[in-house]
Amino acid sequence: MTNDTHQVHVLSHPLVQHKLTLMRQKDRSTSSFRRLLGEIGMLMAYEVTREMPTQLIEIETPLATMRSPVIEGRKTVFVAILRAGTGFLDGMLEVIPGARVGHVGLYRDPKTLVAVEYYFKMPHGMHERDAIVLDPMLATGNSAVAAVDRLKETKPRSIRFVCLLAAPEGIKNFHAHHPEVPIYTAAIDERLNDHGYIVPGLGDAGDRIFGTK
Ligand code: URA
Repeated sequence: MTNDTHQVHVLSHPLVQHKLTLMRQKDRSTSSFRRLLGEIGMLMAYEVTREMPTQLIEIETPLATMRSPVIEGRKTVFVAILRAGTGFLDGMLEVIPGARVGHVGLYRDPKTLVAVEYYFKMPHGMHERDAIVLDPMLATGNSAVAAVDRLKETKPRSIRFVCLLAAPEGIKNFHAHHPEVPIYTAAIDERLNDHGYIVPGLGDAGDRIFGTK
């Protein structure tokens, strides 16, 4: 599904939806949750790279010489928002192994829910790279807005945002600040609760990926 005003792509593919359902289950083990996130990451990488530019190179098949398209993998930079965004990386890098990786460290102040930056490292030459920002949960949207604000200072060629779950509040906040950045998500849930968690959601993505609770 694509919303015409600002782009929100909901990945309705049955494989993505099936894996997401398994991840939502509260008794799912850490290892299973992590493996499923990797698998969904791979599937989402197909969708988010659909419009990626290709270039023709000359190759030889066993029968003939031909010009055939390839993606310039090194032009892609995955930007993982720490720490949960790193959970998406393995799957995405399976599909685009030549991609570079940047990291943005942000934590949510538990009282104000405002994003505070503590780390920022991108590869060089960002102006010729397509950035794909990764964070499993688009909840209030504050971290995503802050990460993309900061990323824009490096002037990447394009920016896309990928999450697993989005709250309507997060989408609204994100697109109020970054209307031109498309969002790719596996689902849009009902709402946020008073603690800024997505409902029904899947809980704390970082804790579930790393087994810290
Ligand atoms: N971050 C999470 O990990 N889960 C939520 O539901 C919201 C923010």
